[in-house]
Amino acid sequence: MKIIAVANQKGGVGKTTTAVNLAAALAEKGQRVLIVDLDPQGNATSAVGMQDLEAESLYDALLGGSTVTEKILPTRLTNLFLIPADLDLAGAEIEIARRDDHLTRLQSTLSILREDGTFDFVLLDCPPSLGILMTNALAAADEILTPIQCEYFALEGLVKIVRVVEQVRNSGANDKVEIGGIVMTMFDARTKLSGQVVQEVRTHFAERVYDTVIPRTVRLSEAPSFGQTILEYDGSGTGALAYRALANEFLKRHAPAAPTIVPALSPTPSSETRET
Ligand SMILES: Nc1ncnc2c1ncn2[C@@H]1O[C@H](COP(=O)(O)OP(=O)(O)OP(=O)(O)O)[C@@H](O)[C@H]1O
Ligand SMILES: [Mg+2]
Repeated sequence: MKIIAVANQKGGVGKTTTAVNLAAALAEKGQRVLIVDLDPQGNATSAVGMQDLEAESLYDALLGGSTVTEKILPTRLTNLFLIPADLDLAGAEIEIARRDDHLTRLQSTLSILREDGTFDFVLLDCPPSLGILMTNALAAADEILTPIQCEYFALEGLVKIVRVVEQVRNSGANDKVEIGGIVMTMFDARTKLSGQVVQEVRTHFAERVYDTVIPRTVRLSEAPSFGQTILEYDGSGTGALAYRALANEFLKRHAPAAPTIVPALSPTPSSETRET
């Protein structure tokens, strides 16, 4: 199982859209996926149509009052599960800050999932801030997936998150975490700027940037208001195709090491030598 934090402290860059639709596309391919909504705004929760829940967030699990497994809910989609968020998570942030283990609360909370093997991937949808919930996500993650919007100043935001990731590594809370992938979002083929930004980010971050670029489409922005992933809302449109392509690329990057092929002990007799 891999825990992936979908994170960028910059707001509105496509974190939630990417977390939800990449998760749905992975689930469609048979991967067992859990989305953990870590944003008190609950955008990922409503994007899968599950906003009418009360006190179901990770709040008490983070504070040791329950286990993470009690918080997991099935969604309409096969293989896709959710731990929802609501505003009470903002309160958890304050409570956690008072504790000595404030950086590793989420890491400990999610540790059962590493042992029980229920999921292939856990995607953490982070809030747009450098607060306790986001740093906890970085400390709990194997890897960070950073969406970047194709617009001016894209790189400036990246510099900040790179620094925070370094701080988390240096704190000893998670010495392996790094930005494993960058996804360019809201690409507008009609503007020169979008292409220039993608080029610039690729120059700096090379193969960490996914080949798949997510286009700007009205459908992707409409889907959450219907509580649907893009695969349900417009399954054959460019947005769905892009997130399916991203899922393929993601799976290639996360493929388990190929098993060693043990040569057969004796060669199979060929048809000529075989007795009839
Ligand atoms: N590829 C896209 N094409 C069109 N609209 C998009 C696309 N991706 C995201 N959006 C829209 O842009 C807005 C911001 O996207 P999203 O909520 O995914 O970003 P975010 O980084 O999670 O934001 P926040 O920082 O507030 O959590 C939303 O209204 C969303 O529907
Ligand atoms: Mg969001």
